[in-house]
Amino acid sequence: MDVLTHVLVALHIIGIAALLGGFLAQLKAVGAGAARFTPAMLHGALTMLITGVALVGVHQAEGHTLNNIKLGVKLALLVVILGLVYVKRDEERVDKGSFAAVGGLTAANIFIATLWV
Ligand code: HEM
Repeated sequence: MDVLTHVLVALHIIGIAALLGGFLAQLKAVGAGAARFTPAMLHGALTMLITGVALVGVHQAEGHTLNNIKLGVKLALLVVILGLVYVKRDEERVDKGSFAAVGGLTAANIFIATLWV
């Protein structure tokens, strides 16, 4: 199970790379009002959901104690991220507020994951 956990964490990090990378790569375009949610961002957000839920399952199967409040907060933020990216995935110009919300909430989830023990 240890290998499975590590593989899932690696995929979880690849998901962050796709989601946050897609955001950061377009910071310049945000200023010009030309940023959009790319397929990589949508697939990254979906990867976060699938690998996150799978990690919870593996940890529970091994009898580990999980911080359910922290995971609930991470899940809630990801639902907002995923909702925004999914609903606006075909818009060629996404408004700055929605774009900033996705980047900000993703960064917030990284700090929640790493700082909240
Ligand atoms: C944008 C959304 C998310 C981000 C940026 C994110 C970020 C991270 C990061 C950086 C880690 C590694 C640090 C650590 O071990 O705590 C991690 C681990 C983990 N994440 Fe996420 N996460 C997200 C969504 C989720 C969701 C929705 C769930 C499940 C409900 C989840 C469940 C987990 C679990 C269980 C671990 C622990 C892995 C382990 O140590 O074995 N994550 N996450």
